[in-house]
Amino acid sequence: MTMEIINVSLKKEIEDLSYPIFVGNNILTKANSLLKKYIENKKIIIIHDNFFSYKNELNNTFIDFVKLIQSISLSVDLISVSGGDQTKNMLQLTDILEQALSYEIDRECVIVAFGGGVIGDIAGFVASVLLRGIKFINIPTTLLSQVDSSVGGKTGVNSKLGKNLIGSFHQPLAVIADINILKSLPDREFRAGFAEVIKYGLIRNKNFFNWLELELENIFNYENFQLKKMITECCQIKAEIIQKDEKENGNRALLNLGHTFGHAIESFGNYDGKIIHGEAVAIGICMAFKFSNMSGFCSKADAERVINIFKKSKLPTSLKEIKNFSINTPEMIEKFKYDKKTRNNKFTFILNNKIGESFIKHDVNVNHLIDFIDKEI
Ligand SMILES: NC(=O)c1ccc[n+]([C@@H]2O[C@H](COP(=O)([O-])OP(=O)(O)OC[C@H]3O[C@@H](n4cnc5c(N)ncnc54)[C@H](O)[C@@H]3O)[C@@H](O)[C@H]2O)c1
Repeated sequence: MTMEIINVSLKKEIEDLSYPIFVGNNILTKANSLLKKYIENKKIIIIHDNFFSYKNELNNTFIDFVKLIQSISLSVDLISVSGGDQTKNMLQLTDILEQALSYEIDRECVIVAFGGGVIGDIAGFVASVLLRGIKFINIPTTLLSQVDSSVGGKTGVNSKLGKNLIGSFHQPLAVIADINILKSLPDREFRAGFAEVIKYGLIRNKNFFNWLELELENIFNYENFQLKKMITECCQIKAEIIQKDEKENGNRALLNLGHTFGHAIESFGNYDGKIIHGEAVAIGICMAFKFSNMSGFCSKADAERVINIFKKSKLPTSLKEIKNFSINTPEMIEKFKYDKKTRNNKFTFILNNKIGESFIKHDVNVNHLIDFIDKEI
């Protein structure tokens, strides 16, 4: 069984926040040895997606994982939470916190998140505030969470006013991305995760983007070799960026390519599943490229090539494809005010000079933006 290990180096004066991301096929069967040094003789709370509570082909993987953790820890308690962004809110957070406290935890207790980005984000936030902060481990089970949300320590929940507005930075002790667990992922969810994969090529690695174009069919056929290479590459790119800028004071914002538009689109949908995060990001990235082209930064040919890979991946590429809820320009502009990159009502967008070269554009001209969105809706 071969496995890649990417080390995220975050050395602090007081605490070393570095951690490994284990990527491979069937590596959850080795969870006891991979996680031993973090959880041995400790109380563990596993916050898991309720998908794994039901009888399904992957339930055994989860049950076996729990047994492995039980074999080396002091105790294991489970908290089941449903996936989907509707779950990522303050009510659910309070519920989990109270449940966790009822298990008589102490500050040595370790939270283990077992699920997609929603479970990882909320469980990480729980860990960051429980008893003023305890450790956590992330076991991402969706493509999106394996390539993106499990790495980098952003945790939190959504607010009625916008996406991920309540949260903290809290790095995990370790991440295990097991490709095998993706087999039961609905096609729509796998494609949505692929939107974030494309993002990495667009931000800073044109060779990776070229490779994705070539390997599209193998990737959607779940070929192990391509999946492992792809997930490893994404984690490596993200690790390189966050090692230099953990708290997003600079270039970490590049990872937000397409997300200012995307988060606004998601909040129009009230997180009810009509449009899911990766789909909103797909539209957002296409909009960022069209806006880059309209603003004179990138060529039309590059923008078209980007739209084309999303189309081939059967992802939405335009607001016009969203049928179930209405979006208007003034409300969309209003939503940008809650974007975490906005300062004094001045908007910042991640734009591209070309494929593989994103940059941070501060103080974007609002009239220009209004004209652009008017054309898009
Ligand atoms: N923290 C970060 O840096 C960061 C980065 C990107 C995205 N995010 C967040 O991640 C969230 C999206 O993550 P997601 O796409 O993983 O969503 P998700 O966690 O809601 O999972 C998507 C769906 O897949 C199901 N599921 C999970 N694992 C499965 C499996 N192995 N087999 C079958 N079904 C499975 C879930 O029950 C859910 O219905 C958003 O809230 C987004 O804001 C966070």
